[in-house]
Amino acid sequence: MDLDYRTDYWDDAELKQEFQRYLIDIFGLDLSLWDKMGFWDRKYRPFTYFKDGRLISSVNVYSMNMRVRGRDCRVAQISAVGTQPEYRLRGLNRQLTEKAMAWAADTHDFFFLFANVEAWPFYKKCGFRQVEEHKAVIEVTGRPPRGNVRKLDINQSDDRELIFRIASGREPVSDLLGVTNTRLFMFWCLYFLKDGIYYLPDLDTLVLAERKDDVLSVCDVVATQIPSFAEFYPYLAAPGDKSAEFLFMADKMQLGDRAATAPAEDNGTHLYGTFPFDGEEFILPLTCHA
Ligand SMILES: CC(C)(COP(=O)(O)OP(=O)(O)OC[C@H]1O[C@@H](n2cnc3c(N)ncnc32)[C@H](O)[C@@H]1OP(=O)(O)O)[C@@H](O)C(=O)NCCC(=O)NCCS
Repeated sequence: MDLDYRTDYWDDAELKQEFQRYLIDIFGLDLSLWDKMGFWDRKYRPFTYFKDGRLISSVNVYSMNMRVRGRDCRVAQISAVGTQPEYRLRGLNRQLTEKAMAWAADTHDFFFLFANVEAWPFYKKCGFRQVEEHKAVIEVTGRPPRGNVRKLDINQSDDRELIFRIASGREPVSDLLGVTNTRLFMFWCLYFLKDGIYYLPDLDTLVLAERKDDVLSVCDVVATQIPSFAEFYPYLAAPGDKSAEFLFMADKMQLGDRAATAPAEDNGTHLYGTFPFDGEEFILPLTCHA
């Protein structure tokens, strides 16, 4: 097959545009807003086969700055994996996955990915194993919120600059498993969590949170010094709250003995090689999903 292998091609406007078209076709994901806002990330590296300018098969590695058990390291998330339907089951994506992993192997501590269930057999063939994640949960006593909290609108430039400033100087949300990739965080603010971005001026902290019935789901806490849950909850409280859950490792939340764990929503999490939490409960931060 006459295929053109390309990597690291974001400077080529046509190939980048074709990559974005492919994401819309295969995943229904339109990254043009992320791009237009200036948050496109060179740490997001493509490994791709093209044919006559059309993207045939592709794998991306998102190179992530992660705090793992107190140590700063780089880890690799495999993402945007796909092959055009008429080219599937010819070994193309496996070749690209192997190229991507060979590129990342010496400079990254471990590999992970989030996969839809249809792709699990493929990832198994590539040497990945599926694992479960667990989240911390805690009962809370609902109450009216304390003032001085501002809901931010990512589409307003002042708010967007505030979000970017705090995210750029952030500490990882966890010393056990925390990430600091600012541009990926901006992606989450632009797309999936845009209705739940709260700024707490007293703490100069952003909290990304959603309320599902009587559960406050805390998706990320962003600050130069991460406040404990007891410090920030009063600003976000609601009278009907019964519990809070944390979609990241909650070591900095200082939940004490009252915290329990529960299985997290199944994200099809897969790991490759040794992982620092093998045999232990863990959760990768929601806002590291690429
Ligand atoms: C998953 C996907 C990327 C695989 O791409 P591909 O180029 O067809 O994969 P390959 O041909 O390299 O397959 C490698 C191996 O995985 C196996 N495999 C691939 N897809 C499979 C499937 N759906 N079910 C079972 N096995 C599968 C192949 O048989 C092959 O095994 P072999 O080496 O023993 O022959 C492709 O099916 C796809 O684009 N799916 C839609 C998008 C998607 O779901 N992406 C993953 C998002 S998490």
